[in-house]
Amino acid sequence: MRRSAVLALICCLGWIELTEAQFPRVCCTVEGIRSKECCPALGSDPENLCGILSGRGNCSDIHVDSKPWGGPYRLRNVDDRENWPTKFFNRTCRCFGNFAGYNCGECKFGWTGLNCDQRKAPTVRKDIHSLSADELQEFLGVLDRAKTSVHPDYVIATQHWLGLLGPDGTEPQFSNVSIYDLFVWQHYYSVRDTLLGPGRPFKAIDFSHKGPAFITWHRYHLLSLERELQKLTGNENFAVPYWKFATGRAECDVCTDALLGGRDPADPSRISTGSRFSRWSVVCDSLDEYNRLVTLCNGSSEGSLRRGLVQSTNVTLPSMSDVRSCLNLPDFDSPPYFTNSSFSFRNALEGYERPDGELDASVSNLHNLVHQFLSGTSALSHSAANDPVFLVLHTFTDAIFEEWMRLSRENASFPDEMAPIGHNRHYNMVPFFPPVTNEEIYVASEQLGYSYAIDLEETDSGPAVFVLGGTLGGIFLGILLLLLFLQRRRRRQFQPLLNAEFTNTKYTEEA
Ligand SMILES: *[C@@H]1O[C@H](CO)[C@@H](O)[C@H](O)[C@H]1NC(C)=O
Ligand SMILES: *[C@@H]1O[C@H](CO)[C@@H](O)[C@H](O)[C@H]1NC(C)=O
Ligand SMILES: *[C@@H]1O[C@H](CO)[C@@H](O)[C@H](O)[C@H]1NC(C)=O
Ligand SMILES: *[C@@H]1O[C@H](CO)[C@@H](O)[C@H](O)[C@H]1NC(C)=O
Ligand SMILES: *[C@@H]1O[C@H](CO)[C@@H](O)[C@H](O)[C@H]1NC(C)=O
Ligand SMILES: *[C@@H]1O[C@H](CO)[C@@H](O)[C@H](O)[C@H]1NC(C)=O
Ligand SMILES: *[C@@H]1O[C@H](CO)[C@@H](O)[C@H](O)[C@H]1NC(C)=O
Repeated sequence: MRRSAVLALICCLGWIELTEAQFPRVCCTVEGIRSKECCPALGSDPENLCGILSGRGNCSDIHVDSKPWGGPYRLRNVDDRENWPTKFFNRTCRCFGNFAGYNCGECKFGWTGLNCDQRKAPTVRKDIHSLSADELQEFLGVLDRAKTSVHPDYVIATQHWLGLLGPDGTEPQFSNVSIYDLFVWQHYYSVRDTLLGPGRPFKAIDFSHKGPAFITWHRYHLLSLERELQKLTGNENFAVPYWKFATGRAECDVCTDALLGGRDPADPSRISTGSRFSRWSVVCDSLDEYNRLVTLCNGSSEGSLRRGLVQSTNVTLPSMSDVRSCLNLPDFDSPPYFTNSSFSFRNALEGYERPDGELDASVSNLHNLVHQFLSGTSALSHSAANDPVFLVLHTFTDAIFEEWMRLSRENASFPDEMAPIGHNRHYNMVPFFPPVTNEEIYVASEQLGYSYAIDLEETDSGPAVFVLGGTLGGIFLGILLLLLFLQRRRRRQFQPLLNAEFTNTKYTEEA
């Protein structure tokens, strides 16, 4: 199995694309950290830094966004993630043209060929229920391999910036991590608290939620894992499927042993032993402990996945009406580009406002509602990516964004400034490396080499006249609003779950 992975890696070197993550192992040396330079040689010639000898790139200073940020985080110079990634590295490879990767050895997303000069035919992300038996086995099998294969190129930091070289300054504090666990760690790292001292977390900070970067960050996160999975399978057309979660129903139709794991009858909060995912352990779950010890998640195993604690109650998944409703919001986001933005497509899709854009602090819908519905590991933002349902939930969320982008021409601008930290257009997304800005990912998916086999205009239960103008549309809109109102009233009863989910670890404290 391991040999075939290596073989797959070798065969695919021609088309491999960006690998991005915490930091390349090769740069995590005492010398690398002290010099703050991460410009590895490409191939065996030590002079070929960043592939400069073959014209692929050169070693350059890293640019960071200098525009002011808004939001509740007003501290300065106390968090490793400010001006990302310059607390760690201030020089890295800048790749020319379509070259990419930490040593410019790969192609940008959407490009292929030895010289990265051919457009890659977009891979197609499909409905998980429509996969053939072989496609499904490929997907589930590669997840298992990603969970156990050490990441070939990247390692995770296990200490904060100032402690990165250990107590005596000679022992770099990095750890190997599996490909899947790196994906989990990245999500944890982007949402974790700022540590002001032992047991003194500042929680009002989040680089991947509660702002416009919610969309671009998760898009890039998935793309990076998808590339790693393509390398593992040796299939450059492999695509992560999506879960059309907008069923309006009270059960999780991907939570079966044939798909992402059913319930264990002996302990309904655990995954059935008939599923491979019952053997997956979680990482990066003990946020309070890291805060108490002023340390970072080191990727060690912390017990089983948990899911479905509240599925027996009356929480229902979002509906296709909710999806269509948010698609009608013309503005990508609106000031203050936070959870209290109204008539913001991003905030509606993320789930902090009603699908029609009205602000209502008690609302949880679309993306947030699905996390709440799954509960357990999925309900905690620092831990949620441990559950493989995260992938299919986020591919569908991304598909909704893709459809929105296709529909909108005006008012699609991503804010340049005054979004919360990490969320301005030109901010380097935390913790990806080499640096990539929100802007670079705010493009049509075809430019990034993938597409969706999906039709969001189809209806599951109602007529498809929602987009029609005139009286008929008006009446339908009225009925829809009434339904949404009733649904919201129903959901409101479960408010404590929402609080336990995203808000309690986040924006409650003041600076
Ligand atoms: C990068 O960091 C190094 C090491 O701390 C420092 O000497 C150098 O001046 C920095 N360069 C820039 C452009 O900030
Ligand atoms: C790297 O390449 C860019 C673009 O060609 C050029 O402007 C820059 O001077 C180069 N930097 C170094 C250090 O060679
Ligand atoms: C991390 O993984 C690399 C590549 O598999 C290996 O060479 C290295 O020895 C590992 N380091 C540790 C500390 O396990
Ligand atoms: C890794 O983190 C866990 C949980 O915080 C801790 O118990 C363990 O001692 C750490 N391991 C190392 C090698 O630091
Ligand atoms: C769930 O719905 C049933 C029937 O509609 C109702 O009897 C029950 O009280 C509801 N449970 C909760 C927790 O709201
Ligand atoms: C949004 O929330 C932030 C933080 O709670 C607050 O400072 C701001 O005044 C709110 N803005 C609006 C428009 O409600
Ligand atoms: C775009 O935004 C402007 C200013 O907020 C507004 O006047 C205009 O109607 C919007 N366009 C659309 C298509 O919603």
